[in-house]
This record gives sequence, structure tokens and C-alpha cells, in this order.
Amino acid sequence: MIYLDNSATTYPKPLKVRQAVASAMQNSANPGRGGYDLAMRASEEIFRTRKTAADFFGFPKEENIIFTLNCTSALNTVMKGILKSGDHVVVSSMEHNAVMRPLQKLTEKGISYTIADVFPCDNDKTVDSFRNAINAKTKMIICTHASNVWGIKLPVERISALAHEYGVLFTLDAAQSAGIVPINLSIQNNIDFLCTAGHKGLYGPMGTGTLIICGNTVPSPLIEGGTGSNSMSFEQPSDLPDRLESGTPNYSGIVGLRAGMDFVSSHKIENISKHEFRLIKYLYRELSKISKVKLYLPEPSEDYFVPLLSFNISDMDSEDVSSRLNKKGIAVRAGLQCSPLAHKSMDTLQTGAVRISPSVMTRQYDIDYLISVIKKI
Ligand code: ALA
Repeated sequence: MIYLDNSATTYPKPLKVRQAVASAMQNSANPGRGGYDLAMRASEEIFRTRKTAADFFGFPKEENIIFTLNCTSALNTVMKGILKSGDHVVVSSMEHNAVMRPLQKLTEKGISYTIADVFPCDNDKTVDSFRNAINAKTKMIICTHASNVWGIKLPVERISALAHEYGVLFTLDAAQSAGIVPINLSIQNNIDFLCTAGHKGLYGPMGTGTLIICGNTVPSPLIEGGTGSNSMSFEQPSDLPDRLESGTPNYSGIVGLRAGMDFVSSHKIENISKHEFRLIKYLYRELSKISKVKLYLPEPSEDYFVPLLSFNISDMDSEDVSSRLNKKGIAVRAGLQCSPLAHKSMDTLQTGAVRISPSVMTRQYDIDYLISVIKKI
């Protein structure tokens, strides 16, 4: 199989990630829940992963790294743990349903929102549209770092600075960027909450994600429960990470995530990004020679995009194209990719789009084969 759906989850996972998960399953007891060696070693492994994540994202406090199920649960924790009736939120026109569905639900509690248009390759206009969307009640800007459909990279340094200029919290959805675009919180210090998926560009197992509490505002927990600490009390501990991590964690997943981050660090983000961009630019150029292929945006450049590409073939439904690719052994994601808002912006709500997303393991041969099959379709 030729796997080109790495924006959904990276596959295959690096050998060291698979080994770390297997070894964690063979040699662990419940971390933080026992005074015996096996449980204490597991606690140390979790701590080491927190430290790896803190170093990876340039953040000094390991305890502010919260392990979550995925990026969606990190985003839900931030939104539902902070927003109150009367609050207003600004989001971009590229948001995933991981943001839009909880936000829509929150409107039932008196929270309102405005969608700021994103202008591909025009950061000034994008920042202006965020500025115009802020009002006196705006509590938070939530913004994807990069569209999971179009690869458009948002000017998040400028948008987060704008948020703080207006006294507004800034939440970054880095599901599609972590591990592909450098994120350094010691420099990007206007981010209040960084939400990531562990299983995409960080090469960890599915069922992992992180929420980094970067500022002084801490969300109320979505769930309460056992933390292995302060067990005499029925009150949820107020200290991080226990405040936001209840119940037995996904131990083997978390250890696998550390191996994933180590994998990315050893390959270096700039090399991973360079490799993927080379393939995507090549694909773009070849597809632009096929008259029936519809490309919606300019050739992806590092300044304005992350390395992925969505297209359609004349008026074919994107799902039909993906099923024909599947028959030829090529795995891609078509349809709406859980981001109807991003499709609305490009007028592709009816057809969806076929998305190609490489990883560091994608080869030139994979892309050449894809192009040959697209030509036949
Ligand atoms: N959000 C993931 C995607 O873009 C699953 O496919």
C-alpha cells in the first residue's frame, strides 16, 4: 500500500515508537498508583515524557504539559473549562470540527462566536479580519496553525500578538503543525494554550495528544477523579498536571509519544519539512499539467503552507476518486476531512476534495505512482 494520509495519522509509525509501546505494555504497572518498583518506574517514564514535550516545545514547566486523548480533547478542555456565558470567541474560517462542534455546543450556554476569514498568502488581510472580529466581549481567539484540508498556514505569531494586545486569550490548534512547523513557546510567548495531536507529525500512537498551559489561566477540569495524589480529599487537586489528568493514563501511548518526539528531534523538523515540501511541490507541478485536475491555491510555499495538497478531478466526487485510488493501492482521505468550514471557504462543500499528505517516510516513487494513477482516472 502507498499511504498518503499522514494528516489523519502518520503511518507507518517509526520502529522505535512501536518498540517503546510494546515494551511499555510488557513492563508496566499503573503510574503514580503504587509504591512498588514497576509502578514507580512507570511514573518516571511519564515524567520523562513530560520533560521531552516541554523541551520539544521550548516550555520550562513540565507540570504544565497535560496528556490528553487527542487534540480534540485538549481543545474541549480549554473551551469548556474557560468560557462562560456572555463570552465571545473569534475563530478562523479554516477551523476543524474539533473547534466548531464544541463551540456550537457552547452557544447553548450563551457563548457567541465570529468567524474571521483567512486570506491565503495575504497575512495582512488575515490579521485585519481577526482584528475586525474582536469585540468588547471577546475572551478568546482559537486558531488552527494550519488547515488540515488546504495546508494554509496562518500567521499565528501575529494573531496571537493581536490577541494579547486586546487582552484576549489565544489558543493554538497545532494538530496539523506540531512536528512539521517549529513551535518554540519561549519565543512564541503570546500563546496561552497549545493543543497538539500526538499521532500525526509527532509520530506517536493514536489516542495521544497534549495540552500545554502556557499562561496563567488554567481551565476547570472536564472530568474529575483519581490522580494518585492527595487521595484523602474529595476535591480535585488544584496543582497541574493532576488538576487536568484524572484516571489511569494511556501509559503505553504516552511512552510511544516520547519515542515519536525523539524521532522528530533526531530527524530535525526542518529536514522533515524540506522532504515533504519537495514531494508536494513536485506533485503540484505535475498535477497542474493535467487539464482535468482542479487545484485551488497557488503552489505551496514554506511561508504560507504546510506540506499537503487537496484537489479534485473535473466534476467527480472526491470520494469516488479516493475509492479508485484505493483500488490501486493508494490510501488518501477525501470528502470534507471533518472541516466543512474550510471547504465552505473554497466552495467545495458539495464535492469535498482529495487530500494528499506525505510523511518523512514517503518516497518519490509513491508520488510518481500516484500521478500515474491520477492520469489514468
Ligand atoms: N483531523 C484528521 C484529518 O485531517 C483526522 O484527517
